Amino acid sequence: MTARLIDGKALAASVRADIATRAAALTAAGRRPALAVVLVGENPASQVYVRNKIAACEQAGIRSIHETYPETMREGELLARIHALNADDTVHGILVQLPLPAHIDAQRVIEAISPRKDVDGFHVASAGALMVGRAGFRPCTPLGCMRMLEHIGMPKLRGRHAVVVGRSNIVGKPLALMLLEADATVTIAHSGTPDLAATCRGADVLVAAVGRPRLITGAMIKPGAVVLDVGINRLPDGSLCGDVDFASASTVAGWITPVPGGVGPMTIAMLLANTVQACEQA
Ligand code: GUN
Repeated sequence: MTARLIDGKALAASVRADIATRAAALTAAGRRPALAVVLVGENPASQVYVRNKIAACEQAGIRSIHETYPETMREGELLARIHALNADDTVHGILVQLPLPAHIDAQRVIEAISPRKDVDGFHVASAGALMVGRAGFRPCTPLGCMRMLEHIGMPKLRGRHAVVVGRSNIVGKPLALMLLEADATVTIAHSGTPDLAATCRGADVLVAAVGRPRLITGAMIKPGAVVLDVGINRLPDGSLCGDVDFASASTVAGWITPVPGGVGPMTIAMLLANTVQACEQA
């Protein structure tokens, strides 16, 4: 079997076109949506992510406020900036790029963001809302994964087994809750799960979000399964690869996301969607 490709880049482009329409309507009504993106330090990967987020905002007609601070910034100064952005009615979303320098308590900074502006969905209030099935901002990568499942005609997953490999607060755990919400039976696994291969082979929907290059091979995939690869790993030769070994996996899976051009572009599209929603709700 040769898997069908889930083209995240194309799907993200169509989502972004819809967002641009909504942003234009808000702007015409005198309320231009705005996202503040805060970067502390000079992590090269973070710099690339932030640049991409800002370019995506501009393209969708969302105003971006780009704040960069030196690695030496004190936690108190950063908290003061967050408080100022919370108080600014022209700013609808606040994103603090992670990781933060080690001397700053990242969770404390995230908790300082108003939940009404928490477009990353990382605040405990947002996480709690997801846990109990209430409205709130959902983290962008899991939201992008769910949007991809909808796109291929799987908005509901009753009778299906979803396996999420990875247990991060920003992807694995929230995604598992969203899959449950879509009626899937859900297993959360990780790289240390005994007989990970057998667990993965039970999956109708398999999501890899562990940050281990090509951990998931074709032999670990149920024929016809949907495989979503959240990993973006830089190999020693400078090239990018996912957590899934695409060459072997794509001969077994029914659907598969490429890296790059899969889940990554969806994450940014969902960030824009959350920002426009924050403005609509303001
Ligand atoms: N670092 C890696 N992924 C993310 C993300 O989705 N949001 C933020 N703020 N930082 C990140």
